[in-house]
Parts: sequence; structure tokens; C-alpha cells
Amino acid sequence: MIRAPLLSRWHALVFLIVATLLAFAPARAAVPHDSAVPAYAEEQTILQTEKDQPEPGFGSTASGRQHFDRHYIVPPGHMTEQDVVLQRGGNTWRTLRNGPFAIIAGTILLVVPLGIFGFYRLAGPAKEEHGGGQIERFTGWERLVHWATAITFIVLALSGIIIMFGKKIMLPWMGHSVFYWFALISKYLHNFIGPLFIVCSLLMFFTFLRRNLFNRNDWQWIKKGGGLIRHEHIPAGFFNAGEKVWFWVGITLLGLLMTITGLMLNFPYFKGPGNTMEMTRYLLQIANYLHIIGATLYIAFAMGHIYIGTVGTPGAWHSMRYGTVDEAWAHSHHELWYNELVERHRSGARRPAAGGDTDGAPAYPRG
Ligand code: HEM
Repeated sequence: MIRAPLLSRWHALVFLIVATLLAFAPARAAVPHDSAVPAYAEEQTILQTEKDQPEPGFGSTASGRQHFDRHYIVPPGHMTEQDVVLQRGGNTWRTLRNGPFAIIAGTILLVVPLGIFGFYRLAGPAKEEHGGGQIERFTGWERLVHWATAITFIVLALSGIIIMFGKKIMLPWMGHSVFYWFALISKYLHNFIGPLFIVCSLLMFFTFLRRNLFNRNDWQWIKKGGGLIRHEHIPAGFFNAGEKVWFWVGITLLGLLMTITGLMLNFPYFKGPGNTMEMTRYLLQIANYLHIIGATLYIAFAMGHIYIGTVGTPGAWHSMRYGTVDEAWAHSHHELWYNELVERHRSGARRPAAGGDTDGAPAYPRG
């Protein structure tokens, strides 16, 4: 009769694994890196083996563990850091990005629309003015550039929010098989629309630059807060000071920040002319922090812009959709511009058509 062995082969294997884990348990508990708490097992092991080595600094390529990363899409040896698969700063970056950065950015993105809604309930929209002929405010090209920038911005904002918060707020209730598609599509949309947004922003900058230069009248507008709360109409030129601030702080400054940091994240294998520059993990982590800060401010600012351009100022949406505004609207919202137009047309060949436009052409083309 064949006797069954006391310990089958499976039992022996399980025993061996448990014994090994128990033997390493105190060692793992001794990882000396405070912020390594949520680190992956692999990283814990590396931190453990490096625990007595001096920290070379997060910016140093020597702070990583050499190990070829098979996910790289360029040939081996292209970048100095190419074979650094685990970098100590990576864990600090993850802890900061998923912690304070996500909490502060998320709070701002919730509080700002609530604030705008509260403002709308308290102050209501601007007075609606109708009457007179139609005035051309934006040409077809200007509207095309505006909407191309706006649509690419919205795609970037939505896909960016999914990349940033999706794992926390979507994955738990929709599950991996659905969230997988959201994450994948968001990532590719973001990567390809990003460069398109840069082109649109540049066109926007040059198309609207001249009309956004500040002048003395803007100071009056700023001092009276644009008359937003009391619904006063402070005389303004083609663009008022609020619109100019949006142009310089939003489109220009934040656009530049998003462009530089976005391109760094999009092209991590970039090398400067003559290999003078090279992307490192450290630089990418800094770019990511700045990209998150810039995105939060830009999206918050854009919410204000969208409110003022739609329900906040009746008539404004029509001007960007169809290119024209009522004479009465132009007079009350942009009085200095209106006076300039009337003056120009009075001294020039064209005169305003009485009773508004009958053939679809604006009575006051911008000329
Ligand atoms: C102003 C518009 C933009 C907004 C609102 C925006 C927003 C965001 C947000 C919220 C993230 C997620 C950050 C994270 O998860 O840590 C992100 C990631 C990223 N953004 Fe943008 N971004 C904008 C423009 C750009 C541009 C112009 C580019 C490129 C030219 C770009 C390229 C990237 C890349 C490559 C990532 C990383 C994606 C990944 O994790 O795979 N972004 N963006």
C-alpha cells in the first residue's frame, strides 16, 4: 500500500512562502522612508536595500534604481535616465499629487461654480438691451478662432479631470472594464488635442492682441469693479478691463504655463539642440505640479468667463455665435467703442441703416 506523504508538495510550497514572508516581515516594517507608506511592494524592496546609502537628492539621476524599462518606446541608451525604473522622488510625487494637490484642486473646482451660482442668485444677470440696427462685433475668422480654442480647451479640461480624479471618483462605481475606456480615451484625447490647443491659443493671441492693450479708461472700469454688482455700465472700449485681464492672465499667462508644462509631459524623450537638454523624472514631476496648478486656475477662470459670456450678460453669446450685437447693447456695454464706430461712419461713406438691418448685413460693419 502506498502511504500518502506527511506534507504534500503544495503544502510544502505554501509553507515555504509563508516562512519567507514571515522572515522578511520585520525587515519590511523597518523601511526608513516616511512617505513610503503607500508605496508598491517593489518600491518598498528598493527603499529597503538602499536604506543605508546617502540620499543623492531627488534631482539626481543617481536617486533611481537602474533597471531597463521595457515600456520605453525609444531604443535603449537614448536618454541618461531611460533605464531608471524606480526613482525615490516618484513616491514623494505620488503622495503629493494624490494628496494635497488633488484635495486643493478638487475643492477649488467645486467651490468656484458654487460661488458663481451664488453670485447669479444674488446679483442676477446684467440688464438686457435691445434696439437699433445690428453692429458687426466679431468677424467669421475671429469666431472660428474663439470656438476652436474654446472647444479644445473644454476637451482638455474634461479629459484632464478624468486623468486626475477618475481613479478616485469614477472607478469605484463604474468598475475597471468601463473606466478603462474613459481613462484610455481621455489620455489619447489629451495628448493629441494638447498641441492643437497651443496652435489655437497662438492664433487667438495674435488675433485679439491689439484690442486687449490696456489704456487709461480701463482703470475707471477696474475702480468701479466693472459695475458688475450694481449693474452699472462703465464706459468701455471694444473690450472692457475684465475681458483684458482674462486675455492676459488666462489666455496668455496660463496658456503659456500649460503649453510649456504640457509639452514637457507630452514629449519626455525630448532632447535640446546638440543634446544640451534632457528630460528627467524630476523635471517631469515639477512640470506635473505646475500643470495641475495651472489647469485648476485656468478652469476656474474659464468658468467665470463662460458665466459672464452667457447668462451673466444677455446678448454676449449672440455676438460670439452670430458675430453681431444690437446697437443698444453696444452703446450700454461698450460705449467708447460704439461712439468710435458712429463717429467713423458719420465721417465715412457708410451710414447706419434706419430701423436696423433688413438684408442681413450689419448696419455698422466694423470696417
Ligand atoms: C489649458 C488646457 C489644459 C488643461 C485644463 C489641462 C489639464 C490637465 C490635467 C488636469 C491633467 C492631469 C494631471 C495629473 O493627472 O496629474 C493633465 C495632464 C496632462 N496634460 Fe494637460 N491640460 C491642458 C493643456 C495641455 C496641453 C496644451 C498639453 C500638451 C501640449 C497637455 C498635456 C498633458 C499631458 C501629456 C498630461 C499627462 C497625461 C497622462 O498622465 O498621461 N495638457 N492636463
